[in-house]
Formats: sequence, structure tokens, C-alpha cells
Amino acid sequence: MSEASSKIVCQDLWKIYGRNPKSVLDMASSGLSKQEVLEQTGYVLAMKNVSLEVRENEIFVVMGLSGSGKSTLIRCLNRLIDPTRGRVTIDGVDIVKMKTHQLREFRRHKISMVFQNFGLLPHRSVEDNVAFGLAVRGEKGKQRDEKVMLAIEMVGLKGWEKSRPHELSGGMQQRVGLARALAADTDILLMDEPFSALDPLIRRQMQDEFLKLRDTVKKTVVFVTHDLPEALKLGDRIAIMKDGEIVQIGAPEEVVAEPADDYVSEFVKDVPRLKVFSAGAIMEKPAVVLWDNFDVETAIKEMSVNQVTVSFTTNSRGQLTGVITLKEAIDAAKRGPARLGDIIRQKIPTTSPDSSLEGITQLVANSDVPVAVIDENDYLLGVITRRTLLRAMEAVQAESETSS
Ligand SMILES: Nc1ncnc2c1ncn2[C@@H]1O[C@H](COP(=O)(O)OP(=O)(O)OP(=O)(O)O)[C@@H](O)[C@H]1O
Ligand SMILES: [Mg+2]
Repeated sequence: MSEASSKIVCQDLWKIYGRNPKSVLDMASSGLSKQEVLEQTGYVLAMKNVSLEVRENEIFVVMGLSGSGKSTLIRCLNRLIDPTRGRVTIDGVDIVKMKTHQLREFRRHKISMVFQNFGLLPHRSVEDNVAFGLAVRGEKGKQRDEKVMLAIEMVGLKGWEKSRPHELSGGMQQRVGLARALAADTDILLMDEPFSALDPLIRRQMQDEFLKLRDTVKKTVVFVTHDLPEALKLGDRIAIMKDGEIVQIGAPEEVVAEPADDYVSEFVKDVPRLKVFSAGAIMEKPAVVLWDNFDVETAIKEMSVNQVTVSFTTNSRGQLTGVITLKEAIDAAKRGPARLGDIIRQKIPTTSPDSSLEGITQLVANSDVPVAVIDENDYLLGVITRRTLLRAMEAVQAESETSS
């Protein structure tokens, strides 16, 4: 499981709350449910056999109903909670074994957290709150002030530095919490339902801003939510927890297309409204389409200039003939001059503009290239990427929530 790109690896994590948790661990791990453990021992089995891997620079969402163990899990990642059993490895280091001073360094430099209820110091100004983590690790002077200002600007709170938290709205207070975490400039950001206290409009705005921010500052993010639209919008992958266990991990479109059980189905039940949306309604215009008579060098140049990693190809009449990724083109060019038509993939996922989104979800999920939308004469009308589909799902879901 520990590929080179894994940032965080959890192996066989268990958490039991109670006076002497280890005493019931054997019994709990013999296969009893959370409910059975509670009835027989009075102990709470909050996390059961959780194994997962978070990749570098992804947004990994943990979703589940209240009490399913999300906070317990995320707090094991910075050891605000010690797991009863199991390993948490971050950048290859087992953090469960860390001594106090190592842990302190690790929390100051490697990992920061944004809490649901903001967790601000009420009597300190915005800038003091943002500077808090930096001050704790002994940073002072001009350099610290610059980092603080930069973080405050990033979250759009310039001009509010001297204000106290109670003078700010909920959304602004949450920005302060986010700025504090950003100022620490750690590789990993843990976010436990950071936007739950915000009203829906502000919440959506914060999500958009957060995604934009994330494009500029690369970080590995673990994000807890119980809100499906939020999970679909933000997550590169989603883990779904139920009664302390992970019941499914997958890309958002996989979770929607193939829910692992009834619990997951219940979460995604409104998404079948996708039936009413068509591929033609959400398709996008491809940034680049290549003529298959081009030579491979021209193709590479076109794709590079337009910053795309994959392109469809057409014949001289404009009919779809294939697809090629930038990597495939570069590999081919290394072997020598070639005409695109001779090196493209001819087997490509296609759909018609009137297919339902529900019908194409699996096609999109299973393909490493966008799905081509073509008419009955094989003319390329548009393309649907995973991102396109996710945005549509998120919009449909958000709409169904406001209308219900
Ligand atoms: N300190 C504690 N002592 C005893 N039981 C606890 C403690 N903290 C959490 N629990 C229990 O552990 C289980 C998991 O709780 P956790 O807070 O991790 O859930 P959650 O998914 O974050 O829920 P929410 O969405 O409400 O925040 C719950 O049954 C909860 O009652
Ligand atoms: Mg919680």
C-alpha cells in the first residue's frame, strides 16, 4: 500500500473509548458490531479496522453520518487522539510511536488543522490568531508578519487584521481559522467540517475559494464532511464511514455510479436525478482537436501550447478517428517521425448527446481519457471529463436540496 506517492497511510486503525480500551480490543475485533460492543461492555467502538492511503496533494474527503467516526479518524492523523491499535505513517514515519518532542515538532511544521467551531482565541486580534502557530514555534519579527499578512490576504480578510473574532461574521471567522492553518505552511491540512456552521450561500463561496487557493498552494488535504455536494465538489477521492468502518473508498463518480451498499446508496439517492440531464447539456468544447494527418511533433506542440494532456483526432471531413495523450505522443516521437493517424488509440469512449448522465457515469469513471460526444455521423460535438461530470452532479445535488 505504501506507494511512493502516499503521504498518509493508516493501517488497521482501531479506537475504543472507555476506561481500559485494550481490555475489550480482542473481543471487539472478533467481529462484533459497534452496537454489540456497547451493549456487552459499555465501551464505544468508534473506529474499526480502518486502512487507507492519502496521496500527495490530493483532497481526500471523509464522509459519513454523525457519530460514524470521522472526527476520531482525522484526529488520529495528528494524534490529538491516540488510536487503540494500528499504525499511522506520514511521509514514511510512524507517528503513533513518536515521543513528545518529536510530536511537537511534527505538529508545528508538518500538519495543521481547521476546526468546525473555528477554535479562535476570543480576546486576540485576527492577526494574533493567524500568527498563533508561528509564534508557538518561535518565529518572530518581520518574516512572521509577512507570512501572517500573506495568509490574511489569501483568505480575503485584508483590512480586518486588528478586529476581534466576535466582530466578524461566521464566514469571516472561519476564514481566520483557515488563514491560521495556511500561515503555518504545512504540507498537510486537516479540515474537520470546516464549513458546516456557514449558511449555504457563504458555504458554497468558501468551497470555491478553497479550491482556487488549493491550486496555488499545493497541499495534501483531509477534509471531513457529511454533505454530499461538498464531497463531490472538493474530493479527489471520498471515503465513506459507517459505525466506525470504511464502507467504500473511491473517486466521487465511482461512489455515485456504484455505491457499495444501502448506506452509501442513501447518501447518493438524489443523484439519479442525473437521469434528466443529458450529455449534450453538460459537454464542453475541447481545447484542442488534432487532424490525424498531422505529424507527431506538431501534435505535441499544439497540446503543449494549449496546456492539454489529451486530444481527440479527426479526419479531413471532421469525423472522430481517435484519441492520443501527450505522453503517448512524446513516447512515439522518441521512436521517430510519425503521422498521428498511425499512432492514435482508435478505441475511444463515445456517447450521443441525448444519453443521460446516469447512463454515462460509469463510462466516464472507467476511462482515462474524456468521453467524446458524437452525432450520428461521427462528428465530434464535445467532450465530457470527470470534472465536467462532477460539477454537473454537484449542481444537480445542490439544486435538489434547495428545492426540497
Ligand atoms: N471522548 C469520547 N468518549 C466517548 N465516546 C466518544 C468520544 N468521542 C467520540 N465518541 C463516540 O465515538 C463515536 C464516533 O464519534 P466521532 O466524533 O468520531 O463521530 P463523527 O463522525 O465525527 O460525528 P459528527 O459528524 O457528529 O462530528 C460516536 O459514537 C461518539 O459518541
Ligand atoms: Mg465530528
